[in-house]
Amino acid sequence: MIKFFIYIISLCLLYSANIQSQNKLPIPDTLSRTNFNLIIKNGSRNFYSGYTTNTMGVNEDILGPTLILRKGDIVTLNVKNTLSDTTTIHWHGMHVAPENDGGPHTFILPGSTWSPHFTVLDNASTYWYHPHLHKKTAEHVTKGIAGFIIVRDEEEAKIILPRKYGVDDFPIVIQSRAFDASKQFIVRSELDSVILVNGTKNPYLQVPAQIVRLRLLNGSTERTYNFGLTGNKSFYQIGGDGGLLNAPISRTRLRLAPGERAEILIDFSSLQGQSIYLMSYASELQAGIIGSSSVGMGNSLPDYSNNKLNGANFNILKFDIIAPTQNPITTIPSVLISNSPFSISSVNATRILIFSSISGMMNVSGPFVINGTPFKIDKINYSIPLNNTEIWELRNQTPIAHPFHIHDVQFYLLDRNGTQVPLNERGRKDVVLVESMETVRFITKFQDFSNPTVPYMFHCHLLTHEDDGMMGQFIVTNPTKINENESIFPNKF
Ligand code: C2O
Ligand code: CU
Ligand code: CU
Repeated sequence: MIKFFIYIISLCLLYSANIQSQNKLPIPDTLSRTNFNLIIKNGSRNFYSGYTTNTMGVNEDILGPTLILRKGDIVTLNVKNTLSDTTTIHWHGMHVAPENDGGPHTFILPGSTWSPHFTVLDNASTYWYHPHLHKKTAEHVTKGIAGFIIVRDEEEAKIILPRKYGVDDFPIVIQSRAFDASKQFIVRSELDSVILVNGTKNPYLQVPAQIVRLRLLNGSTERTYNFGLTGNKSFYQIGGDGGLLNAPISRTRLRLAPGERAEILIDFSSLQGQSIYLMSYASELQAGIIGSSSVGMGNSLPDYSNNKLNGANFNILKFDIIAPTQNPITTIPSVLISNSPFSISSVNATRILIFSSISGMMNVSGPFVINGTPFKIDKINYSIPLNNTEIWELRNQTPIAHPFHIHDVQFYLLDRNGTQVPLNERGRKDVVLVESMETVRFITKFQDFSNPTVPYMFHCHLLTHEDDGMMGQFIVTNPTKINENESIFPNKF
């Protein structure tokens, strides 16, 4: 009996805490067609009453507009930097020439405008943009500079899928944050205790009672999530980083590391009038032992030392399910597209990348390095002949997991520790989480763009690791164009 009252009282407390603190999830504005004006600026937000948090954003105080691009279009992006800091903007996941890629070499000085101009070659999917200045990436992203890119193409357009932006198709960026005593963002911190979704604490989203598409982006500096829905409700994953999967895959969990994206369909049709959460589940080994908790109500996020998803479950985004729209999508398609991985028989080179720590095998906080040496901005790690098909073998010899990302290309995973990868990882990807002591192989092709003077990057997408030097760079060379006497990489940096 007493237990029962305590239960009721705690439910009420939980309920009132929720009421006080729930904020409507903002959906970023969209920009479309072919000419985009982006202004990087300082801003501020009141995450806590009585406190003003300094932020950075693109056209906004925090985050930026969603760019809607169509495959085949020629686009110009005018990126103006009104910060007092130099920065860069990188189109994460997109296949563009190195000089348009916005890596650490392509500075946008304070007060200046950078205007890359390129053809959209990517398949329909969810990409994103964020700063990439060496040693400043974590700071600029943590303060709020990031936005979605949605690419549409004809193949995807033919499939019956929700695609009404903000109605049945929602961009959802999840970012964990730490605040200091004056409620400013702490850039380098393992003490993240607050989840921001689309830049907002304790968010709720009204969704229609029908099949809804979510474009999930883990935009966190370091935290990996093990997404699921309340009560282990199942959902379908339809896409990964660089495009749709062959077919929807029914799942109850989805692990997403920093930089990774996934598109999922959730069928809310039987839940009108109810609420459920997108949450992160504790490591499955611990599931059932530790109960669920909600962030933003005084509980801190589970400790994620070793990046192992340990600790408790926590809520991320509340869905309030409202009446369906006029003509809802009512079926989950049985097939999507057909991915055709590059064939092993066409491989020209295999590269081995070893992740280690310079301060010893057991070090969990870094700095970490790839192949023994930290990133050097004037050192090219690989020179790759144009049109090479390559296997990259990633060997993680550290006690923590690292999400590896490469620019220029999308890749297909070949195996994890020699065994087949799960169905949801068989589409085009540009980030792969490599677990501690794991070896992951992928295959990719370096095509269309070569430039002997501007490199592309590869790095760990834990932004603090990247800033600390867990990064390298490659140039793509066109053998038919090389002038033997010319220094392939002029020392202008
Ligand atoms: Cu999302 Cu090299 O970055
Ligand atoms: Cu990238
Ligand atoms: Cu790392």
